[in-house]
Amino acid sequence: MKILILNGSPKCDRSNTIRIANAFTEGFPEGTEVKKIDLYEKDIRPCKGCFSCWKSKEGTCVIKDDMPEIIAAIREADIIIESYPLYFYGMPSQMKAMTDRCLQLVMPYMGDKSESETTFNEMRDPEMREKKMVLISSCGYVETEPVYPALLAQYDLICGKGNYTAILCPEGEIFVTGKAKRQQDVYLESIRAAGAEYAANFCLSDETLRKIAIPMLSPLSFSTITKAHWKDGHWTERDLEI
Ligand SMILES: Cc1cc2nc3c(=O)[nH]c(=O)nc-3n(C[C@H](O)[C@H](O)[C@H](O)COP(=O)(O)O)c2cc1C
Repeated sequence: MKILILNGSPKCDRSNTIRIANAFTEGFPEGTEVKKIDLYEKDIRPCKGCFSCWKSKEGTCVIKDDMPEIIAAIREADIIIESYPLYFYGMPSQMKAMTDRCLQLVMPYMGDKSESETTFNEMRDPEMREKKMVLISSCGYVETEPVYPALLAQYDLICGKGNYTAILCPEGEIFVTGKAKRQQDVYLESIRAAGAEYAANFCLSDETLRKIAIPMLSPLSFSTITKAHWKDGHWTERDLEI
């Protein structure tokens, strides 16, 4: 089984979210191949909106940058994990740029009613339709439910309702503080278990999803730790170098 992690955090390896994505893949059986691409390390130019990819039979994009390498990795993978922080209730800009450039992977829309019940833009390549999609995202808020509806609505439209799995983590900033290690470990262990469950069934039970959405700390503890962390100026030179 081949997993591709598309890391859409500008913090690359220092991302809170990538810790969750890594724990998730650790739950997969031995022999699973995991490849990670840090999108912020890649040259991904914005889509020009020229529709050249829809006009060519092969779906070729005219922009010369690192996208062909990313498209090739997507084609090779069985499971695609998009891992990134929530930014203003949506995805970070490099992730959005990559998503827009994936227009080359979908069928042109010419005003006809979609044949698919679930999505507006069917994948060009039937093999692409077999791939599994997992969204892993962390946010700064203490609950996921109030802050993720817009992003989930976008995934419902892009992938089709029920065609992807969303692992959403509240209080993501706890990973930066280095505090509450025990709670972090317990949380990451539940993510590893979720990885094993996903590897076996290609989906997660409601019970597992409910567990993942439970914050690591009470709102009061989270706020106390976060405020102390910021007040102490731990977010100094290394963070500013990003
Ligand atoms: C520009 C920006 C926008 C953000 N917007 C939100 C938001 O809308 N809701 C939220 O709960 N957290 C928001 N956050 C917090 C991040 O989602 C959170 O810190 C996340 O854990 C960072 O993950 P990362 O380390 O993987 O990049 C925002 C952070 C930044 C820098």
